[in-house]
Amino acid sequence: MKRIKLWDKEFEISLLNEDIQLAIKTMAEKMKTDLEGKETLFICILNGAFMFAAELMKELELTDAEISFLKLASYSGINSTGEIKELIGINEVITGRTVVILEDIVDTGYTIKGVIEQVLAHGAKEVKIATMLFKPDALKVEINLDYVGIVIPNDFIVGFGLDYDRRGRNFKDIYTLVDK
Ligand code: IMP
Ligand code: MG
Repeated sequence: MKRIKLWDKEFEISLLNEDIQLAIKTMAEKMKTDLEGKETLFICILNGAFMFAAELMKELELTDAEISFLKLASYSGINSTGEIKELIGINEVITGRTVVILEDIVDTGYTIKGVIEQVLAHGAKEVKIATMLFKPDALKVEINLDYVGIVIPNDFIVGFGLDYDRRGRNFKDIYTLVDK
C-alpha cells in the first residue's frame, strides 16, 4: 500500500485517480443534461476544489457556462472548526442566475450551508451544489446535495486538492490518515 508522510502524520492510498476521474465524468454527464441552456455560473471554492473544478469543467463542454473562484476557510489541522469565514471575491453579477457551487468535500456541511446562504443573499435565482466527496456520517446540518462524486467514510483524507495543514493538495490520488 502506497503511503505518504505529511508533517507528523502518515496517510495511505484510498482512492485512485482513475476512480476519481470516473466519478467526475459521471457527474458531468448528469450536470450537462440539467444545465444545458441555463447560462450557469460555476463557483469553485478555493483552495480545496481547484483540482475537482478543473477536471469537471473540462468534461462539461457547456457553451454558455462561466467559472469564477471564491476563497474561504473553516478548517484548522484535521478538525472542522465550524466557523464560517466570509466569502472573498464574490463580485460576479449573480443576481437572477443559476449558480453551481463546486466544492471538494462536504464534511459537517457548515461550510457549504454558509456558502449557499451568502450566494442566495447576493440574489442568485437558483443554487446547486456539486461536491466531489461527501462524508454522510459527519453531516451536522440539513442540506440538499445535487451532485455527489464519491461517498466516503468519516476519515480524514488528503490529495486531489485536499490538504493537511497546507500540504498534500498536489497528489493525484486520495490518501486516508493512518491512526496510530
Ligand atoms: P465542513 O464545513 O465541515 O463541511 O468542511 C468542509 C471543508 O473542510 C472542506 O471544504 C474542506 O476544505 C475541509 N475538509 C473537510 N474534510 C476534510 C478532510 O478529510 N481532509 C481535508 N480537508 C477536509
Ligand atoms: Mg474546502
